[in-house]
Amino acid sequence: MGPISNQYISDQEIEQFLEIIFNHYGYDFREYSRAHIKRRILHWLHLQDIPTLQAAQEQIPQDIPLATALIRQFSICVTEMFRDPQFYLKFRQVAIPLLRTIPFIRIWNAGCASGEEVYSLAILLKEEGLYSRCRIYATDFNEMNLALARDGIYKNERMREYSINYRLSGGKEDFSTYYYSQYKAAIMHQNLKQNIVWANHNLVTDWVFNEFDLIICRNVMIYFTRPLRDKVFNLFVASLSPQGILCLGTKESLKFTLVQDQFSILSESEKIYKRKLMHHS
Ligand SMILES: C[S@@+](CC[C@H](N)C(=O)[O-])C[C@H]1O[C@@H](n2cnc3c(N)ncnc32)[C@H](O)[C@@H]1O
Repeated sequence: MGPISNQYISDQEIEQFLEIIFNHYGYDFREYSRAHIKRRILHWLHLQDIPTLQAAQEQIPQDIPLATALIRQFSICVTEMFRDPQFYLKFRQVAIPLLRTIPFIRIWNAGCASGEEVYSLAILLKEEGLYSRCRIYATDFNEMNLALARDGIYKNERMREYSINYRLSGGKEDFSTYYYSQYKAAIMHQNLKQNIVWANHNLVTDWVFNEFDLIICRNVMIYFTRPLRDKVFNLFVASLSPQGILCLGTKESLKFTLVQDQFSILSESEKIYKRKLMHHS
């Protein structure tokens, strides 16, 4: 087998392939960024030892494990606890005071991956004395990620890096009070899990399922084309309470999107926004 990464795949071939995935498996990647999709397909062909996309195309409709491996490739998940600590620091300053005024706080963590972001949020809310009146809906479209998130078991060796992030994010406790160690694993405490609801939700093909005071969706839309991003922003507007808060990742922004006028900025650098109360005449 030659070096697959040099294989030429035309945009048209990719389109046709994504159409087949959508029709057979219901996963819609047609509006994910082409560069990302192409890279992941080439990697997947290489791992599966399939010589051409044409060959994969013939095989995939009846080969569920092959399709599962592909979907896993498309949802590669790089995440960490208290990722970009300055975000959490800012969140404490600008979002927590607003959330404090709400009696029962509904939160949506969309694209929660293997859960590190959700547990970070739960820890922060606990320290601010708000966790007991929160319900966090943590969603992802990848079942494997969700299963890991639900378990909340991480590698012990990463905890040192996470505890540094935690400190930089404004955390004041000893980070090790939030998990216990068993062999080489760090297991998040049950009391952090009690107000989290895990669910499968696909931002591309599923729609509104509740109203939220806070939506956190970070580092998910970097893989989306602009029209798809606009569609997901509409989903978020439709899912937010009138003055709900929206948090994006560092490389994402509401600037130049179709919904930007519907939000005020709580922090430009940390991408924290608040939905404006709209007055209709
Ligand atoms: C890079 S991770 C980001 C994880 C976390 N939010 C963070 O910032 O660390 C991207 C996650 O988005 C999920 N994802 C990608 N497309 C999605 C979609 N259409 N619907 C729901 N989740 C999606 C992937 O499965 C993956 O877990």
